[in-house]
Amino acid sequence: MTRSVQDLFDLRGRVVVITGGAGMLGMQHAAAIAEAGGHAVIADLSGELAAHSAAEITRTHGVEALGLQMDVTRKPDVEAMVAAVVEQFGRIDGLINNAALTVTSGSEGAARYFASFEEYPLDLWDKALQVNLTGMFLCCQAVGKMMVSQRAGVIVNIASDIGNISPDHRIYEGAVNPHTGKPFNTPIAYATSKAGVINFTRYLATYWADKGIRVNCISPGGVYAGHDPQFVKNLTQRIPLARMARVDEYRGAILFLLSDASSYMTGANLIVDGGRTAW
Ligand SMILES: NC(=O)c1ccc[n+]([C@@H]2O[C@H](COP(=O)([O-])OP(=O)(O)OC[C@H]3O[C@@H](n4cnc5c(N)ncnc54)[C@H](O)[C@@H]3O)[C@@H](O)[C@H]2O)c1
Repeated sequence: MTRSVQDLFDLRGRVVVITGGAGMLGMQHAAAIAEAGGHAVIADLSGELAAHSAAEITRTHGVEALGLQMDVTRKPDVEAMVAAVVEQFGRIDGLINNAALTVTSGSEGAARYFASFEEYPLDLWDKALQVNLTGMFLCCQAVGKMMVSQRAGVIVNIASDIGNISPDHRIYEGAVNPHTGKPFNTPIAYATSKAGVINFTRYLATYWADKGIRVNCISPGGVYAGHDPQFVKNLTQRIPLARMARVDEYRGAILFLLSDASSYMTGANLIVDGGRTAW
């Protein structure tokens, strides 16, 4: 029987873990899940923010949410997170690998994070790969075991437009970073790890295709967050829709990939970038 469109996007009763869930986009993902009736598990380095965000989601949407402190790079943390979710809800239906080393989270200062390639600190390169790729590996491994035993599950990995192309380095000409007031760039570790996310996604999608687990990724474009006007001008000239994204513009893509609306989709890279990578 053909299901209604509303039913296809329904997440009622589904339990979805969002790593880095207390961050700017993580909170949007959690709100979208709750609005569709799902239970959002906000797992983040900051336990305080995670708990606060979960309480806010429950209060606003009337669906039980859970906040957990965890570091995606630490296997014991990831395993403890899975145990806590299973204890609370009995299952895990979805996982959004969203945590990343960004200039505002875990990078120990913008001056180091935006260092030139020639001077890029080795420890920060290592750390970005640890959070952005190894963290995803550990979370997929631990949550995936649960999904294999359920013979059902959906994983959404968060890549970036910059995982598909190199940034045009000229977008940074004459622009300063709002955090430092100094020139900035897209660090090589970010772009490289996000490219890795895309093929990691294809690998797991094919590996688990016969286990009832779907694995896809989203490549979002940059979200406007008080950026330098010169940077915005330089960047948006290279975006067909001629603007950066609004913070709430990935909710539809997240809901689509998490729900049965995308039931015939696995191994895909959903690019939501205003067309930046189309020309
Ligand atoms: N904001 C954008 O313009 C943009 C564009 C493309 C892709 N993305 C991607 O979207 C995702 C979310 O980005 P955001 O802008 O919301 O970033 P953010 O910095 O606001 O949030 C990241 C969250 O991850 C958490 N985190 C960092 N390291 C962690 C770790 N080791 N373990 C657990 N949690 C950890 C942080 O505490 C933070 O809450 C990232 O994967 C990012 O690369 C963002």
